[in-house]
Amino acid sequence: MIKISSLTRNYRAGKEIFKAVDDVSLSISDGEFVSIVGHSGSGKTTLLSLMGGLTAPDAGSVVVDGIDLWSINDDRLAELRNSKMNFIYQFASLIPTLTALENVLLPTMFSKQKKMKKDAARLLDEVGLADKAGSYPAELSGGQQRRVAIARAFINDPKIILADEPTGDLDEDTEAEILGLFKHMNQEYGITFVIVTHNSALAAATMRTFRMTNGRIVSIT
Ligand SMILES: Nc1ncnc2c1ncn2[C@@H]1O[C@H](COP(=O)(O)OP(=O)(O)OP(=O)(O)O)[C@@H](O)[C@H]1O
Ligand SMILES: [Mg+2]
Repeated sequence: MIKISSLTRNYRAGKEIFKAVDDVSLSISDGEFVSIVGHSGSGKTTLLSLMGGLTAPDAGSVVVDGIDLWSINDDRLAELRNSKMNFIYQFASLIPTLTALENVLLPTMFSKQKKMKKDAARLLDEVGLADKAGSYPAELSGGQQRRVAIARAFINDPKIILADEPTGDLDEDTEAEILGLFKHMNQEYGITFVIVTHNSALAAATMRTFRMTNGRIVSIT
């Protein structure tokens, strides 16, 4: 599903070149549920955005479902991103002037796929927010906003979910619920999950864990 070969991404810090991701190769199979762990600054977010075609590599390749992301044009890359994958970001990014339900529906407005409000309502129900469909982000707690963002990630029937600390600021109970939801989506619909986390319990619950240090994968467990 995702095959990364000798991937490197540099950032310039003054005159120095800094390798945020340094010669990383790995493969993730269709339907796998994996995690990426490592200290702050080890390159986890950079690796995730390289996998999702949001950041261009300086060297190496990212092949998703047989397509080399950086050999196709921008339009096709955008289309591939919309049709196959979805991101859950480190910080919930909801549109403040839209209700929870409208935020979940947002991705469907840019695609040809006509998704029913029913799907959005069902997803809100699955994240435990059936009664908050009409609420605006400002009326929701941080954890509830996070859950709306999680519901939104599933609206376009993605094949791959790339999540950057999706449960970072949630309490343990909500975190366990979200993890349960991810597992359900993984088992029921075969969605592939790549999750960056600082949470060792969450990492332990995944099929494989990649540990990063200084831009490199140092172990796979
Ligand atoms: N746009 C950028 N410009 C310059 N340097 C960057 C940029 N993005 C990331 N970096 C640097 O690359 C390194 C890896 O950053 P990255 O965000 O991938 O780390 P991370 O493992 O996700 O950390 P955290 O756990 O704190 O989120 C860091 O040293 C960071 O400062
Ligand atoms: Mg990060």
